[in-house]
Amino acid sequence: MANGTIALSVTERARTIPLDEIDVSEPELWRTDSHWPYFERLRREDPVHYCARSAFGPYWSITKYHDIMAIDTNHQVFSSEAALGGITIDDETTDLRFPMFIAMDPPKHDEQRKAVSPAVSPANLQLFEPLIRERAARTLDNLPRDETFDWVDRVSETYEAKAAVGAECLAAFTELWNQRVNAPPRGDLVSVMAHADATRHMTPREYLGNLILLIVGGNDTTRNTITGSVLALNQNPDQYQKLRDNPALLPSMVSETIRWQTPLAHMRRTALQDIEFRGKHIKKGDKVVMWYVSGNRDGEVIENPDAYLIERAHPRNHLSFGFGIHRCVGNRLAELQLRVIWEEILKRFPVIEVVGEPQRVPSPFVKGYVNLPVRIPG
Ligand code: HEM
Repeated sequence: MANGTIALSVTERARTIPLDEIDVSEPELWRTDSHWPYFERLRREDPVHYCARSAFGPYWSITKYHDIMAIDTNHQVFSSEAALGGITIDDETTDLRFPMFIAMDPPKHDEQRKAVSPAVSPANLQLFEPLIRERAARTLDNLPRDETFDWVDRVSETYEAKAAVGAECLAAFTELWNQRVNAPPRGDLVSVMAHADATRHMTPREYLGNLILLIVGGNDTTRNTITGSVLALNQNPDQYQKLRDNPALLPSMVSETIRWQTPLAHMRRTALQDIEFRGKHIKKGDKVVMWYVSGNRDGEVIENPDAYLIERAHPRNHLSFGFGIHRCVGNRLAELQLRVIWEEILKRFPVIEVVGEPQRVPSPFVKGYVNLPVRIPG
């Protein structure tokens, strides 16, 4: 009852607040998962919306599927450059000490992307698969039965653990680079970067920046999608049953979860020139936020977009990996990880039950979970 009342007032506020006061970046909207009615209203009434005041300064919101694609594929006008503010609504997020190609424009972006791409080529992914499966199996085999535990903590690493691992890793990676650069080329990421023309002369900071991008960036998003899949299947028991009855649906379930979760709620760009877009005047230097989370619920492109349906006709039609020159380089690796962990889950557990509400990350960028209480019947 109390929850129902809160839900109603959120919807009511989203429906009645003056358009120019809407600020979808408020962390509280993300912690409480109450951004949905605001985006619904923006898509309907003001799909290219200007917010003059927010904790992150003024910004434009792009909320419809095709408009997001139009901005994402126009890198000549909409820049990802770190020095201009980078790729998230929060200028402070971009760490200028560790340059990453996700926050660079051509030509440097293209050179570095091309150099690291072989690390996630289909052939290399085939090599990774047994390793991913072995790790997934080990983690799952250690899960308790018949007791409540936190899925985020046991199946993914916590943030604290990751930070500690990170510090150790930096020293180890520097050592690894020194070994690889003097040895014949191999298929692993470090060797690929140490030998490719575009990356072999990277400064140590660039090297670490790109490693952080590939390892940590890919980790958070995949972790939150795994947690999201457990939650989505519990909220939609008919879909969970369908999956158990027919594991061949796994690849499309994975894509549907990536759409439904949208692990990165947005990417940001900075306008390099004045431009008119859908009748609005975007000025040089303006911050433009492409809300993938909203485009993924655009009913003009995706049928019944709020429903979680693991048998969609075109499940990879979503915005979660972005579009254009920065489209996620790890998208096939992410799908592989999700598929493998679910193959191993289905082999072991008839069901994973969600037994309480998740706590969500209070961020308009990383759309994820702090914890999720679950129980696996023995
Ligand atoms: C479900 C999991 C994942 C999601 C939702 C995701 C999402 C994204 C998005 C939205 C972008 C930016 C697209 C744009 O600006 O147009 C991106 C770029 C990138 N992602 Fe992922 N990602 C995921 C997993 C991974 C993994 C596992 C890796 C590791 C290899 C990875 C590595 C990268 C890199 C290196 C870029 C920069 C590409 C560029 O700037 O050219 N991602 N990702």
